[in-house]
Amino acid sequence: MAYTVPLLGYPFEALEPYVDAATMEIHHDKHHGAYVANLNKALEGFPELQDRPVEKLISHLLSLPEEIRTVVRNNGGGHANHTFFWTIISPDSSPVPVGELASAVASQFHGFGEFKTRFEAVGIAHFGSGWVWLVVNKSCKLEIISTSNQDSPISQGFSPILGLDVWEHAYYLKYQNRRADYVKAMWNVMDWDQAERYYLAAKVS
Ligand SMILES: [Fe+2]
Repeated sequence: MAYTVPLLGYPFEALEPYVDAATMEIHHDKHHGAYVANLNKALEGFPELQDRPVEKLISHLLSLPEEIRTVVRNNGGGHANHTFFWTIISPDSSPVPVGELASAVASQFHGFGEFKTRFEAVGIAHFGSGWVWLVVNKSCKLEIISTSNQDSPISQGFSPILGLDVWEHAYYLKYQNRRADYVKAMWNVMDWDQAERYYLAAKVS
């Protein structure tokens, strides 16, 4: 059973004007598509690994055969990160945290405004390609982290709650070099209802 790019739950133009339709189509079909194709190719000679959920593959990288470890780290990570990303951005979402996550953000970051400022700062300052994340750590506390390239928080033992792709392919057509404008604009499409579901699941896992 080969890995596949999941269907988007909304049309490519649904996140306009914050994310343009062309970026969404290229990002989803071509970039995510390439990670999936490369992952499937890497696992061709390893049928025992092909049925594993991608999250399982990347959470135990050191257990993988050395000759495919890096390609799975990059492309399995790319598949997992983008699969997560498509679910956490939405045209129909609460613009602010809800439920238990709202309380946790308020208490652990001294309010939603302070959280946004810190998340933006990490995303803007991240050097080169990567991601900025809101995660739950092993002590069940929220943290803001960034990862490089397609490294996943899952590989580091974190549970992702919110994630933002800061690779240039995510924003260059519309924002060119203005990553800060892109990071700030993306608050308009972050799906806090979905983030609450991830938060509740992370707390019981
Ligand atoms: Fe991406």
